[in-house]
Amino acid sequence: MRKKIVAGNWKMNTLPAEGVELAKGVAAGKSSVCECVNFIVCPPFTHLSQVVETLKGSGIAVGAQNCAAEAKGAYTGEVAASMIAALGCEYVILGHSERRQYYGETSETLNRKMEQAYANNLAPIYCVGENLEEREAGKHFDVVKAQIEEVVYNLTEEQFAKLVIAYEPVWAIGTGKTATAEQAQEIHAYIRKVLAEKFGAAAENTAILYGGSCKPSNAAEIFAKEDVDGGLIGGAALKAEDFLAIGKGFEA
Ligand code: PGA
Repeated sequence: MRKKIVAGNWKMNTLPAEGVELAKGVAAGKSSVCECVNFIVCPPFTHLSQVVETLKGSGIAVGAQNCAAEAKGAYTGEVAASMIAALGCEYVILGHSERRQYYGETSETLNRKMEQAYANNLAPIYCVGENLEEREAGKHFDVVKAQIEEVVYNLTEEQFAKLVIAYEPVWAIGTGKTATAEQAQEIHAYIRKVLAEKFGAAAENTAILYGGSCKPSNAAEIFAKEDVDGGLIGGAALKAEDFLAIGKGFEA
C-alpha cells in the first residue's frame, strides 16, 4: 500500500504568527479527515521551528521548501539540510519549478541537494513537470523522464525508498488551470514506469503527488486515479479549511 500524502507548499507566504495560526487550524481539523492521509506542511524557513513546535503530537509532518547544496560554510543566505533537520523537519521539497525557473536550479545542483537531504535524514519531495510550450509540443514525457533520469536514477535503493515525487505541470501552477484527472493519471503512470525501469518493483511503493491548482473541488477526482497518491498544494494550502477539504478528497 502506497502512502497517501497531502503536502502544503506555503511558498513565500505567511508571517510567523500567521503560519502558526494556519498550522493550528490544520491540526484542529485533522480528525475530520481519513486517518489514511499523511499531512505535511512546508512553511518558510523563518517559522519552521515554531510550526514544528505547534504541530508536535499532531501527526502532521513539517518540511522545508529548499535546502543548500553544500553541507556548511561560507554560503551567505543559504540554509543547510542539517539545520532544517535539527529543527525536527522530516521533509524537504527539491526541484520545485519556481526554483528551477527563478533560481537556476539544474539537475547538477539538485543531485547535490538530494545528497544533503539524505545525509541529514530528510525525505525529499522531488518535483518534476513540463511547461506549457513543452506540453503543447508533446514533449512532456521526455521532460519528466530527463528530470528523473538525471537525478533520481543516481539514488541508492535505500534512498529511493524514502523519496516522494510531485508531478507539477508548470502551466497549472498558480494559474487556476488544472490538469484533467486523465492527464494526471497518464503521466503519473508513465513516471512510475520510468522509476520501475531503474528500481523495479520498489516503484510500486513510491508516492507520486499531483500539484498545480489542486483544490477542494477537483481533489477527489484527481486522487481517485490509480497512480495519483495525493497532492502538493500551493495556494489552497494557505487556508486550513481548504487544505483539509483537499485531504477529504480521499474519502470520496
Ligand atoms: P498551486 O501550487 O497549488 O498554487 O498551483 C502548487 C505548487 O507549486 O506546489
